Amino acid sequence: MKSLLNLSFLALALAASVRAIQPDELAQRGSDVVEDVLAPIKDGAFNFDDALEDTPVDRLTESLDAINLLDDDHPEPTLTIYQLISEHPHTTKFAYHLSQHDDLVEILNNTEGRNTLFVPADEAFDHLPFKEHPPEEWIRSALEYHIATHVYTAHDLIRTNTMPTVLKEEWLGGKPQRLRASLTLGGLHINFLSKVIVPNTRATNGIIHTINRVAFPPTMVGRELSLLPNHFSTLLLAYEKTDFVKFIHGVKMEGSTVFAPTNQAFAKLGPRANAFLFNSDKGKVILKALLKYQIVANVTLYSDARYGSTGEVPIPESGKHYHYDLKTLLQEKHVSVDVNYFGPFVKIKVNGQTPVVARDVVAKNGVIQVVGRVPLPPHKHHDGENESEDEEISVDDLVERLSDYIDEEDLRYDGEL
Ligand SMILES: *[C@@H]1O[C@H](CO)[C@@H](O)[C@H](O)[C@H]1NC(C)=O
Ligand SMILES: *[C@@H]1O[C@H](CO)[C@@H](O)[C@H](O)[C@H]1NC(C)=O
Ligand SMILES: *[C@@H]1O[C@H](CO)[C@@H](O)[C@H](O)[C@H]1NC(C)=O
Repeated sequence: MKSLLNLSFLALALAASVRAIQPDELAQRGSDVVEDVLAPIKDGAFNFDDALEDTPVDRLTESLDAINLLDDDHPEPTLTIYQLISEHPHTTKFAYHLSQHDDLVEILNNTEGRNTLFVPADEAFDHLPFKEHPPEEWIRSALEYHIATHVYTAHDLIRTNTMPTVLKEEWLGGKPQRLRASLTLGGLHINFLSKVIVPNTRATNGIIHTINRVAFPPTMVGRELSLLPNHFSTLLLAYEKTDFVKFIHGVKMEGSTVFAPTNQAFAKLGPRANAFLFNSDKGKVILKALLKYQIVANVTLYSDARYGSTGEVPIPESGKHYHYDLKTLLQEKHVSVDVNYFGPFVKIKVNGQTPVVARDVVAKNGVIQVVGRVPLPPHKHHDGENESEDEEISVDDLVERLSDYIDEEDLRYDGEL
């Protein structure tokens, strides 16, 4: 197996190639900057493991009680968001950077505005991993990424999975990049890393929540996966074994939904299936088909929003259920997604059975929905209603499910399926 470094590089190449950008454009995007920006994640500050746990509801409720949600007795606000952060002694750094951008000041000072600002406290800047001054372009994106374009009180945040921001993302077809909100035992978090430390400062034109870490505009899907080898090294190895970079390089996309199986998800296929997929020529062709089946191009499906297709806009209300059929890269074979809201929680299942174990991992060029099992197309001969995916899968079963969808060019090995 290649070293992690190589795998990371591969994933970077994979990410970069999703929209087939030019090498100089890649260089321009500054891979060093990306390294720096992601350093805290590699340090383990990124509590992704927490996100993977199914936290018991009663313990979350305790965590809820600890958050001061009710601010009804506050006096009517008299200042705008911008005025409040400019005057506050603990938000001087963010206010300074913001003041360099007149149009952003206007957004937060305009009394007609209705926005939410997640303002990093001054201490948050001590944790920035940059060795050098970050590029102005990055700072600008980061500032935009802290402004959500609706008013979300802390109470609203508990019921909110993702929020659109002022940051428009070309890789998402010009749509707003989103922030991920989550309630964990540690409190309310934005994008895993930033904790809300002072909620609900009200302004005349919206609301402010103070956070303890700067929120980084997300990076590419492949890059994010490569930063979490404890969870995705098998998937990264699968990309490598199947020369997936070459394939994905030719696929044009504006946004994507990637159902990324964890290492445990692959392990659940069983040792025989894994040996077949990873160590035989025939298996690798099947593996490549499986990888294609995990990617939906041009539709970015968050648990509470959908980019890139017309139709029903999901409204995350308790008791609501949404069903989607999405075309994958596997010869347009569809994957079904069921999203169920109950109370402030959401459950997502792929093909009726495969659970999403970490939802809405926002990326520059799409969203990662982390799955606890490898999604498989249904059997040809009977509908998959009652199949148990808890059991290991046989090699014959894998071949049966996928052999009709193999691209000609992938069939360059001796033998038949
Ligand atoms: C912000 O708005 C207030 C009142 O609407 C105004 O007096 C002030 O000059 C504005 N500040 C900036 C920097 O635009
Ligand atoms: C995604 O959309 C773009 C622009 O509409 C289109 O060129 C491309 O072929 C689409 N990709 C896939 C895989 O359908
Ligand atoms: C599937 O399961 C349901 C309920 O457990 C049962 O009623 C039904 O007969 C099963 N269908 C098949 C094809 O086994």
